[in-house]
Amino acid sequence: MHLVLATESQKAERDRVTHSAWGSPLTVEQFHQREVRLRAHPWCREGMRTWLLQADDGRVLASCESFHNDSYLRGPDGGYTAGDSFSIASVFTEESLRGHGHASRLMDLVAAELERASPRGHAAVLFSDVGAPLYRRSGYVEAPAWDWHLPAREGLSTRRVDSLLKDADVTAALERMRRPSVPFFLWPSPAQVDWHLERERIYAELLRRPRPEACGAAVGDSTALWAMMARYGELVVLMLDARSEEDAAALLETAGALAHRAGLAKVVLWEEPNTLPWVTRVPGATRVARDGALPMLRPLRPGLPAAPDVPFPRALWV
Ligand SMILES: CC(C)(COP(=O)(O)OP(=O)(O)OC[C@H]1O[C@@H](n2cnc3c(N)ncnc32)[C@H](O)[C@@H]1OP(=O)(O)O)[C@@H](O)C(=O)NCCC(=O)NCCS
Repeated sequence: MHLVLATESQKAERDRVTHSAWGSPLTVEQFHQREVRLRAHPWCREGMRTWLLQADDGRVLASCESFHNDSYLRGPDGGYTAGDSFSIASVFTEESLRGHGHASRLMDLVAAELERASPRGHAAVLFSDVGAPLYRRSGYVEAPAWDWHLPAREGLSTRRVDSLLKDADVTAALERMRRPSVPFFLWPSPAQVDWHLERERIYAELLRRPRPEACGAAVGDSTALWAMMARYGELVVLMLDARSEEDAAALLETAGALAHRAGLAKVVLWEEPNTLPWVTRVPGATRVARDGALPMLRPLRPGLPAAPDVPFPRALWV
């Protein structure tokens, strides 16, 4: 049993078997086309790999993907050192092969390989849809996961913000945002944010529905970025940097208005320590234990803080 990187034809084969987990409502062919298009996206071309756990006879026992993230670790002098972190996604074992420890073995081998091959390695992170126990075995520790739900509402104003952001504004929007003042954090690149928008574009085309009129908004020094999750009828806030309660309300109200106009039912915001005080006071906001996407972190080197002390904005989800 050993770890290998998938060839292009092996990736296409995995698309066809993993469709059972992530394909709906797309056909197998549409899902494969989605995957081909996402793999061709600049963020994936820069740092995405598909890993296979292969039996000695060449059979694929389990698979997953890893994506590269920039991360920053604060040193004793208070300055940050840039390093490499990796987000793991699409962990999959075919039904007939489950329960034999293949996924656990794959997770152990991938983490060991990332540790070995990344001199600047900081952490591996993932967003579990199957709870914590499976990944705890491979050294991952979970962080709390709460969401804020805001109803999409007709008649909400978009005039309370200074500008609505388009896909081409993402780089400038990220530059405006304050980075968290914590011992360790991952920071999405403009390409990673655009990867979420690429998913939005793909589903908008395949499901024949309109995209929201904007992918974010700015008011004063405050900024939000968001994307449509067409399959779930949600607008998800990818990043939020609100400098005041009024700004948070204006940005989230705008998200609610655009969600409604795009035929979506609600806006979902992942709770982070810096967003919490503002969102609690936004009218109609309710706090909900997150269903799935449980953030988990496995250090690739000593000296990292505990997972609950690491912020996980939705833009980091893969
Ligand atoms: C989750 C999955 C990858 C596990 O693969 P596997 O090779 O059977 O994993 P292992 O044998 O190493 O470990 C199995 C453990 O995972 C747990 N597990 C599997 N699916 C689970 C689920 N939906 N919810 C909670 N735990 C789950 C099993 O209960 C088992 O725990 P146990 O050993 O204590 O009984 C596989 O079930 C799968 O491909 N599922 C569909 C895709 C998916 O949900 N992937 C995870 C995305 S985060």
